[in-house]
Amino acid sequence: MADGTLRNIGPIILLGPPGAGKGTQAKRIAERYGIPQISTGDILRDNVQRGTDLGLQARAVMARGELVPDSLVCDMVAGRLRQADCARGFILDGFPRTPAQAGWLDAFLEREVFDNGRGGQCLPIVMRIDVDYNRLLQRLTGRRTCLANGHIYNVYFQPPRVADICDVDGSRLVIRNDDREEVIRERLKAYDLQTRPVAEYYEQKGRLVVVDGDLPVDEVSERVLREIENHAVTAAGGS
Ligand code: AP5
Repeated sequence: MADGTLRNIGPIILLGPPGAGKGTQAKRIAERYGIPQISTGDILRDNVQRGTDLGLQARAVMARGELVPDSLVCDMVAGRLRQADCARGFILDGFPRTPAQAGWLDAFLEREVFDNGRGGQCLPIVMRIDVDYNRLLQRLTGRRTCLANGHIYNVYFQPPRVADICDVDGSRLVIRNDDREEVIRERLKAYDLQTRPVAEYYEQKGRLVVVDGDLPVDEVSERVLREIENHAVTAAGGS
């Protein structure tokens, strides 16, 4: 449930390798501020499941653990960001994932001004969640996701109360198609080669915040929410 402060939060970008906890934290931020989580992975998986044109183009690429072409993903994100529920802010989870996507996003945000209550555009807060490489494999192989609403669990770190059943909505928990060890390795490779430079892109602009994602989930959330509050104060010209 949102905390009632219907302030403008602006764009929040979560970077980090597969399994870093982007989706887990994005859901908590969404709940706290009442802004949407935009997970490009979730939107693509939904398209694959529904057999849309986009889904048919993305299916094999995703199954190999590679990245879907920039042009397809940017068009998809543009459509989503123009929806009314993004007006107060939004959380990008899994986007941008290449320097080209980051450049595209900057241009898009400049062109399509998001009202931050001061008639201007809020610069995004960019957070990279860092996790020790060796833990990622365990996080991904242990992940279970609920079919109905995408609630995230982990058989090692965040087990549901009843095995394979979502605590929140009682739906079945499933293993994601790309959480097989051979695909995970390809996803981690794609992250190293194509997505690491995105953090450098934002670092050069002085906009990167790094959060220790090795901590327990609640402690990571505390840090993430603190960074968002600090950013909001700075953006509003506070001390
Ligand atoms: P996507 O769905 O974005 O996957 P990803 O980036 O690989 O990230 P994950 O969803 O696997 O991990 P996460 O960081 O969200 O971790 P989570 O919170 O679930 O992308 C999938 C595919 O889609 C890509 O491979 C690509 O093909 C395509 N795609 C998507 N976006 C694209 C783009 N922009 N461009 C091109 N292609 C794109 O947590 C993981 C597990 O760890 C869970 O079990 C959780 O319970 C547990 N956990 C979380 N935090 C903690 C903690 N602090 N301590 C212990 N356990 C924790």
